[in-house]
Amino acid sequence: MTAGQRVRSLALAAAAGLVACGGGDFATAPTAPTATPAAGPPGTEVEPLAAAAAGAGKLVGAAVQASYLGQADYAAVFGRHFSYVTAEWEMKWLPVQRQPGAFDFSGGDRIVAFAEARGMRVKGHALVWHGSTPDWVNTLTAPELRIALEDHIRTVVGHWRGRVHAWDVVNEALADDREATGDGLRRTTFYETLGPGYLAEAFRLARRADPEALLIYNDYGAEGRGRKSDRVYELVMGLREQGVPIDGVGLQMHIDSSGSPTAADVAWNMRRLAELGLVVNISEMDVRTASQPGDTATRSERQKQVYKAIVGACVAEPRCDAVTLWGFTDKFSWIDKQFGADDPLVFDESYRAKPAFFGMLEAFQRR
Ligand code: XIL
Repeated sequence: MTAGQRVRSLALAAAAGLVACGGGDFATAPTAPTATPAAGPPGTEVEPLAAAAAGAGKLVGAAVQASYLGQADYAAVFGRHFSYVTAEWEMKWLPVQRQPGAFDFSGGDRIVAFAEARGMRVKGHALVWHGSTPDWVNTLTAPELRIALEDHIRTVVGHWRGRVHAWDVVNEALADDREATGDGLRRTTFYETLGPGYLAEAFRLARRADPEALLIYNDYGAEGRGRKSDRVYELVMGLREQGVPIDGVGLQMHIDSSGSPTAADVAWNMRRLAELGLVVNISEMDVRTASQPGDTATRSERQKQVYKAIVGACVAEPRCDAVTLWGFTDKFSWIDKQFGADDPLVFDESYRAKPAFFGMLEAFQRR
């Protein structure tokens, strides 16, 4: 079935109130393990982050991949320490609807089942993102894409209705500073085909599909002060003023341990977003160290201080509801593919707690 045929059949099905779903599966190759600092205590023996976070009124999460949950160490440490889970890949458009009408929920179902068995909340990620858009979506006309967007969001959000605490509805819609022109929006298929109004459409469709889920705009490079941070602020303020059902902003926090953004600037940015009536969350935190000077112990200590300061900014902000890491063990981090070998997370590749883990723990415990 071609994309156009799918969309036309949807137009007919919409009239008859019918929808369809199918199967398939997906997994990404694991990232190469990277070197690790001096060994700390086993992750299964240190006090749970989730309890400390709960004491501060926060959720603490990590992005996981379904294919890793069968590994005992991975499942044990993740299950012990986190109260919130994000699918690193399996709930995105490409793995879920690789071909028009062929929905594959298997990876997301496995992650949601794992979470629910442990009383964890689930973050849906991400309904609209240029980084996981199947080729067939890029071939659609505006009317076809409008129908496909409605079908995707209604079907996916409807599949997990009542089981997802928050959805990253639109991810990374703003251009980086060097590319930003005019309205500052990234020139994606959604923008080029539907215009800037696609953001409002996506949020309205998500609200209709699950009235209970928090609806989030998520982005990177906008955590502290800066032009992109201002553009996120202006974007979500505009959406709120249009009456668009947006509830919060996700600050991805893919940073290094150089000290930028400062915790003070992150706190300032969180506060101004909160004053719009939004919740904020740290959605994809990892702290790269490889580019920093000093030996492993020095870089690990610096990394600990960055985790402690940034998590502390969320702890101090009443409207910051969660800190989520992008992975939790250096054994599996997207950073290795994206930026080269690094140790950006809080458990080493043997699932031992690093100084960064204790930085998070101390922040949640306000120590
Ligand atoms: C990344 C995953 O970590 C990779 O495994 C995948 O191949 C591509 O997507 N910002 C986001 C995330 O919002 O969805 C991206 O995750 C990382 C950047």
